[in-house]
Amino acid sequence: MSQDTTPDTSELASESTISPSLPMRGVPQPERASVLSLPDVHISEHPVVAHKISILRDRNTNPPSFYGLVRELGALLAYEATSDLRTVPTPLETPLEPMVGEKLAGGVGIVPILRAGLGLAEGFRQVLPDAQVWHLGLRRDERTLEPIEYYNQLARAVNLQVCFSVDPMLATGGSAIDALNTLKRYGVPHLRYVALIGAPYGLLKLREAHPDVPIYLAALDERLDERGYICPGLGDAGDRQFGTL
Ligand code: PRP
Ligand code: URA
Repeated sequence: MSQDTTPDTSELASESTISPSLPMRGVPQPERASVLSLPDVHISEHPVVAHKISILRDRNTNPPSFYGLVRELGALLAYEATSDLRTVPTPLETPLEPMVGEKLAGGVGIVPILRAGLGLAEGFRQVLPDAQVWHLGLRRDERTLEPIEYYNQLARAVNLQVCFSVDPMLATGGSAIDALNTLKRYGVPHLRYVALIGAPYGLLKLREAHPDVPIYLAALDERLDERGYICPGLGDAGDRQFGTL
C-alpha cells in the first residue's frame, strides 16, 4: 500500500486565518490624547527636536543623513533627560583663583538596544563621554512582534547615578519592557528609557510594566499599523540608519 504523502494543510490554513504577518490586526489601541498625561512621561517640546524629527521622518532622507540626525537627536534628548541629575560640590582652581564647582554625582550608563539604538547612544556619548556603554541585542519577531534577545554585554558591577536604555522606536513596547526587565535582573538601579518616537499602545504598556522608569520621547505618534509599525512614524529605524533597506 503506498503511503499518503499529501501534506496536512489544515494547520497552515488555520494559521493563515490569524494573519501571522499582521499581528496588530484588530488589536484595540488607546487614543493618543488618552496617554498624554501618564505619569513621568516627558515628550520633548523643543523646536529643534521637532525640526530634526521631521527631516528624519521624510522618506527622502538617505541613510548617512538619517544616522547623523539620530545622533544629533540623541545628544538633544540626553540634554533633556539629564536636566535633574545630582551634582556634588567640587573644589577646583581656575587660572585666576580657587572656587567650588560642580561635578556629576555618580556614573552614567547607556544601554543601546541593538541595532537601532546605536545612533542614539553615540549622541548620548557626545554629551556624556565618560558614560559606560552596555550593549543589548534584541530583535522583534515580525510574525509575533515578540522581542528575541541575541546579544548581551551588560556589566555586573554597578555604581551608577542613572542608566539610560536607548532605542529610537517604542512600538508595541515589547522590546523596551524586555530590556528593562533584563537590566533590573542585573540589578541596574535608576533606569530611564529614551526613544525618538512612541506609539500610544507601546507607551501605555511600558508605563504599566515599569511604572518606576521615567520615559523620554522626542515625539508621540498616532497608532500602530497592522504590522506593528508606528504611524506616521519613520519606517524601520535600523534599516534606515544602516542602509539595509
Ligand atoms: C525595532 C526598534 C525597537 C523595536 C520596537 O527594532 O529599534 O527595538 O523594533 O518595537 P516594539 O516596541 O514592538 O518591541 P528591530 O527589532 O526592528 O531591530 P533592529 O534594531 O535590529 O532594526
Ligand atoms: N521598529 C521600527 O524600526 N519602526 C517601527 O515603526 C516599529 C518598530
